[in-house]
Amino acid sequence: MPRDRHVGRLVVAIDGPAGAGKSTVARRLAKELGYMYMDTGAMYRAFAWNVLQKGLDLSDEATLKKVLDDTMVNLIEKRGRLKVLLNGHDVTDKIRTPELSQMASRVSALKVVRERMVKIQREMGMQGGVVVEGRDIGTVVFPRADVKIFLDASPQERARRRYLEFQAQGKKVTLEQTLEEMIERDRRDKERKIAPLCKAEDALLIDSTSLEADSVVHQILQEVKKNMVKIINRESS
Ligand code: DC
Repeated sequence: MPRDRHVGRLVVAIDGPAGAGKSTVARRLAKELGYMYMDTGAMYRAFAWNVLQKGLDLSDEATLKKVLDDTMVNLIEKRGRLKVLLNGHDVTDKIRTPELSQMASRVSALKVVRERMVKIQREMGMQGGVVVEGRDIGTVVFPRADVKIFLDASPQERARRRYLEFQAQGKKVTLEQTLEEMIERDRRDKERKIAPLCKAEDALLIDSTSLEADSVVHQILQEVKKNMVKIINRESS
């Protein structure tokens, strides 16, 4: 029955700055709903890794386009973990460095890169049943998403969370460095001309500064349920 199919296959968009808790929350939500989890930041990171590997010049649009035309990024779930594949090559562990964070932010400001990534993202999410996290999901990639969330937190709290992650991975960075890099990245992501990080008008703002991930997940699940009920009522009237 088409109605049931649609009800079971919503698009949930979660946008927000780095360290707001998007990945933790999106991953849990996807699991809870039996949906696919799409980490669009990982896709920009994977391409940024490729740029660094190949030593590409970011001002050489023609070469970038050629490389992008031959680029495929896949997100696959393996033993409960999201694997990021760039042209079939597993880059999951290589893309989580401070250097790649900055590079991903830089390449994501380029029109030619965004066009390719958005195309892949739309193809992946076309069928619905996805929780998609990023910066422009509710505004550009899926402007008609069924549920839109803008997840934010204070810069200090976001830097603290990212710093703890780096520490757990044995990466040597200070809290001050992490905060500085995060502020620099936020500024670039918010001020770029194409698809800047901003809250969609119809997105629900959640400030996670003093919230546990569980509580944010619970709040979003309520939104998802409200929406399912709305869709059922609309389709049966
Ligand atoms: O979510 P993240 O930190 O892994 O994202 C890395 C960079 O990718 C981020 O600084 C900006 C860019 N990005 C984007 O421009 N649009 C998205 N939908 C997701 C990420």
